[in-house]
Amino acid sequence: MRKWIMNALIAVAGLFVIIQFFPSGRPQNKPVTGKDIASVTEVPEEVGNLIRQACFDCHSQNTRFPWYSYVAPVSWLVAKDVNNGRKNLDFSKWGELSKKDKLKTLDEISEMVGEEEMPLKIYILMHSEANLKKEDRDLIVQWADETAEKVFEE
Ligand code: HEC
Repeated sequence: MRKWIMNALIAVAGLFVIIQFFPSGRPQNKPVTGKDIASVTEVPEEVGNLIRQACFDCHSQNTRFPWYSYVAPVSWLVAKDVNNGRKNLDFSKWGELSKKDKLKTLDEISEMVGEEEMPLKIYILMHSEANLKKEDRDLIVQWADETAEKVFEE
C-alpha cells in the first residue's frame, strides 16, 4: 500500500513537471496610446479605480500576471480568460470601437456588473479587491448608463 502511494505521488509530481513545458498561450501586454477608455471618455476617478481593480486584468492591455499565472495548469486557465476577455472587451482599445459597438458594450457592462456576472467568480476567489460591494456595482452601472447616453448623442 505504502509503495503504491509513493509511486502515485511520483507520477503526479512528474506530470506536474512535464506540463510546465507546454506553452500556456498567455498574451503579452501591448499598450495602445490614446485609445484607452479614460483618454477618450469621461471616467470619474472612483469608477476608474473600480474597473482597474476588478476588470483590467482580463479586459485591458494592463494585465497584472501573479506568480501562479506562470505555473501550469493555472497558467492555461489565466491565458484563456485573458485572451477571451480582451477579445470581448478591451478598455485599452476603447477608442477603436464604432459608436454602435460602444453602445452595445456599455449596455453589456451595465447588465453584467448589475447582475453580478462580472468579474468572473473564479477571479474574485483569488482577488478580494475585485469583490465589488453593492455601492461599487451601482457606481459602475450608473456610469455605463450615463456614458451610453452621451455616446448616443455624439
Ligand atoms: C478573470 C477575467 C475577467 C475579469 C476579471 C472580468 N471579466 Fe468580463 N469577461 C471575461 C471573459 C472571459 C469574457 C467572455 C465571455 C465569457 O466567457 O463569459 C468576459 C465578457 C465580458 C463582457 C461581455 C462583452 C461582450 O461583448 O459580450 C462584459 C461587458 C464584461 N466581461 C465586463 C466586465 C467588467 C465590467 C468587469 C469588471 C467589473 C469584468 N468583465 C471582469 C473575463 C473577465
